[in-house]
Amino acid sequence: MKKQTPDNPADNSLSRVDGHVKVTGAATYSAEYAVPGLVHAVLVTSTIARGSIKAFDLQEAETAPGVLAIITHLNAQPVPGWPAPKQPAERAPAGTAFRVFYDPFIYFDGQPVAMIVADTRERALHAASLVRVTYQQEPHQTHFEKNIGKAAIPLNVQRSKNSPFQDYTRGNAGAWAQAEIRIEAEYTIPTQHHQPLEPHAIVAVWEAGDKLTVYDKNQGVKSAQGQLAQAFKLPREHVQVVSPYIGGAFGSGIRVWPHTVAAVMAAKQVRRPVKLVLGREQMFTSVGYRPYTVQKISLGAGKNGQLQAIVHEGVGQTSMYEEHLERTVQGTRTIYACPNVTTRYRLLPLDVNTPTWMRGPGDATGMFALESAMDELAFALQMDPLEFRLKNYAESDPERNLPWSAKALRECYALGAEKFRWENRQMQPRAVSRNGMLVGYGMASSLYGFHRHPSKARAVLRADGSVTVQSATMDIGPGTGTAMTRIAAGVLGMNAKKIRFELGHSALPDAPGQNGSSTIPSVGSAVYVACESLKGKLLALAGEMDERFKAGRQAVVRDGQVFGSDEDKDGLSFADILKHHHLNELEAAEESKSGAERDQYSMYSFGCHFVEVQVHPLTGEVRVTRVVTCADVGAIINHKTARSQSIGGVVGGIGMALMEHSEMDHRFGRYVTSDFAGYHIPVHADIPAIEVYYIDKPDVHVNPIGSKGLGEIAIVGVAGAVANAVFNATGRRIRTLPITPDKLI
Ligand code: MOS
Repeated sequence: MKKQTPDNPADNSLSRVDGHVKVTGAATYSAEYAVPGLVHAVLVTSTIARGSIKAFDLQEAETAPGVLAIITHLNAQPVPGWPAPKQPAERAPAGTAFRVFYDPFIYFDGQPVAMIVADTRERALHAASLVRVTYQQEPHQTHFEKNIGKAAIPLNVQRSKNSPFQDYTRGNAGAWAQAEIRIEAEYTIPTQHHQPLEPHAIVAVWEAGDKLTVYDKNQGVKSAQGQLAQAFKLPREHVQVVSPYIGGAFGSGIRVWPHTVAAVMAAKQVRRPVKLVLGREQMFTSVGYRPYTVQKISLGAGKNGQLQAIVHEGVGQTSMYEEHLERTVQGTRTIYACPNVTTRYRLLPLDVNTPTWMRGPGDATGMFALESAMDELAFALQMDPLEFRLKNYAESDPERNLPWSAKALRECYALGAEKFRWENRQMQPRAVSRNGMLVGYGMASSLYGFHRHPSKARAVLRADGSVTVQSATMDIGPGTGTAMTRIAAGVLGMNAKKIRFELGHSALPDAPGQNGSSTIPSVGSAVYVACESLKGKLLALAGEMDERFKAGRQAVVRDGQVFGSDEDKDGLSFADILKHHHLNELEAAEESKSGAERDQYSMYSFGCHFVEVQVHPLTGEVRVTRVVTCADVGAIINHKTARSQSIGGVVGGIGMALMEHSEMDHRFGRYVTSDFAGYHIPVHADIPAIEVYYIDKPDVHVNPIGSKGLGEIAIVGVAGAVANAVFNATGRRIRTLPITPDKLI
């Protein structure tokens, strides 16, 4: 293992290749594309949660200055890929994606009901305020607990025997009742919204010949291209999606949402390029959220601390019209060695918009509950929580009965505990105080599945010796371009400054969207093989020039030159090789994907978090004062950006644990926390120094670069570790997030 300290990460530590353009404002974000003739669209949204539109009064809005069009379900040009609405109109049945301006029905508060197109955004906003809608209101159901009796097996699961969301049992489903030491508890996480600083935005441009270009904030240009091509019945290549810079997304950009389709509709209807930017309030009803989820966990162990039974049941919220499923209970099947495990997952449809994936989707929710429950059982056993986890360490995947491709969670525990000085933890709560604050220690484990999708990359060496690498991947913040540059620089033996990585355009080589922590494992592998292929071509050309570089010799690349061996001092520059062969450029394009190893090994990222909190004994204020986070994600490609990603995940986890809560007023079925005054996220003053450590050992079975996903593992488990620390500080077990002061006094 490389020697690491938090301030001095090991050698692979490139600064962000796009850092300068981002901080100087030179990077163009979706709302910033200056297209000639651009006009502005603003959505008018429903003020009821369920019912239908009776009538519009548009007189005032239509005559307001600058208004070019008002689009509603009554005059919207049909979206060619959608079936014609039924006559008379019918409510969308469960399991249908929401279609904007399609029928008169209201499915949730904040649903777009009309769209103003005007010459300026200000005039569009003003006209939007003049739109009058009368509704036929129907009683709505938005209250989770009051409706939990209606939770059911998702339709998707009923239809698919092989669904990973099916009920699961290994061993004896009744084993819990016989365990010597038992706990049983219910855990609740409220709705939480991703709130990237950059709101979702799109500039939609139709060109001659029915060609569409969108500058759109999303997490996958190729999937957005596919979805828009399908909706507007266009050949894929007639749709281009451009999204090179993104101001955070956390999962909110994985799907194409109704506002994107609306902007494309508007641009078609007014025959002008249209810009649409969601207001902050609209971010709460337009681009999904982490669903309200209630979980029940029953854990049983022998007096020796050996787990005997786990039953984990989860109920998540979804909309009335569509199902969103996530891995709430699935991690429980895998994380510990336990002979008897049962999991069940249900959905509760409510009159709300559809949730979506939010960083660590399902796993962050599930591991809050499981890791809280593990802490509760450890306390019941009077056993150290880390020792309890080690006692139940899964040496192979207990769900699939397969060896791990690699697992260094034991090393993570040891390193994290050492750096945190876990040995100072007191078993009894309220045992330590400092400056009048109660001090507590908590820890949690985490895991996240390995995802690798087929990916392509192209590497081109230019006559000046520079290299451009391209792939239609994304960067929602982790620094994809920087990591890819590092991979290319490593393979080609070049200075990173001479490499340019291009992403975020649908015309680039096919790559998956940025989600599920899959970018480095998938696209990183493609970049690696494309650069290896380019290197091979270069060595072949060099071999034609000089015996020393002939195939089978020890030729190497470094400093942009080919050498006969590691010791050789007399190199041949890449540029000279091209020149000698009268080539302007040399290109290699490759695809990389998983093979048979997927069936031979179980592949996960692993990690653990150690948290210290201080709790004010009278006010219940919780301060996180120290965090040590440790992950085993195989090889670390670039320490500097990886470390930032881990820190960001921990910050998200602290927000989840202590602050984030989308509060709804159920009289109206409306969020009342729909701005940064109401929806609290951590600021710098809330965040202590976070120490990040990696095991940094390649997982040789997963892909050619030995690297697994980091984005989600960084947040999974953090909320549990905070809740466990709060218990250790106060003796109060808070099972409903967020842990706000009112719950502690
Ligand atoms: Mo992530 S929730 O897959 O952006």
